[in-house]
Amino acid sequence: NKIGYGEAHSKIILMGEHAVVYDYPAIAMPFPKAKAQAQVTLSEDGLFHIHSRVYSGLLESAPENLDNIRKAIELTLQICQMPTEALGIRIDSSIPEARGMGSSAAVAVAVVRAIAQFYQQEITDNQLHFIVNQAEVIAHGSTSGLDTLVTSSTDAFLYRKSKQPLPFKLNIDGFLILADSGQIGQTKEAVEKVRQLKEKKAAFVKEAMATIGDFVAQAKVAIEYNDIYELGRLMTYNHYYLNQLEVSNQTLDSIINAAWMAGALGAKLTGGGLGGCVISLTETKEKATYVAHKMKEAGAQKTWILPLRQS
Ligand code: PMV
Repeated sequence: NKIGYGEAHSKIILMGEHAVVYDYPAIAMPFPKAKAQAQVTLSEDGLFHIHSRVYSGLLESAPENLDNIRKAIELTLQICQMPTEALGIRIDSSIPEARGMGSSAAVAVAVVRAIAQFYQQEITDNQLHFIVNQAEVIAHGSTSGLDTLVTSSTDAFLYRKSKQPLPFKLNIDGFLILADSGQIGQTKEAVEKVRQLKEKKAAFVKEAMATIGDFVAQAKVAIEYNDIYELGRLMTYNHYYLNQLEVSNQTLDSIINAAWMAGALGAKLTGGGLGGCVISLTETKEKATYVAHKMKEAGAQKTWILPLRQS
């Protein structure tokens, strides 16, 4: 019995969210501790089946929130000229949904990879990105392509809308704590809120965006110089401006405050904001464990710790 497996990880925006919408750079990195996995087999009854956390049954009667996956399946079979036999697709994911961790992109990447492996076909990065971006447009209305890129790659990226993404290694000693606030992130609303603020306070928002862009550029240098203290400082400054842009909220700020008070080198929201996740930085793993504990006390539902340095 032939089986195809596919996998993808979640992602974190280290710095530069929101400013990236206005063509400033952002740094995003893979987060391998939360993953999406897909498994493809030949369907036994000749009908297309899908099994996931949200739905288990025939693909044709799947609810709308699986339209993105349906699209990914269709496009993969089409673009890669695979036979259209009925398949059974099982999806497992440990990535919390709607937290700015790239859950929908990761699931789509895993499904495309699993189908390709099932048919023993090579799929190019360009094909994979094209297919998953189409699925992302269905899931989110629009996409910057950042989630597709980072969930399907082992590299971190310096990402700018108008430029080719620049992969780079996070060769820096330090630990990142990711904390899920338990609140649904509201990327769409937050992006719209910033756009409206820009109409009211054009000069201020313009300057905030440019400043965040400068912080990101400095953060890239700090990473290259293995300066975790400088990176932490820049993350905190970045959050100050996100707060001014009104995309944080009380829950996120309490968790971020707890990280600062516990001695984190820096802390900020990550992703769209108005809920979702926050990140903080420490120099050692022991410190990270303590900071994570304090972030939980302040309301975080779940925390993960990971070394920034990628193997
Ligand atoms: O919430 P996420 O991880 O999808 O990140 C959104 C990042 C924004 O800069 C706010 C929006 C965007 O499309 O880049």
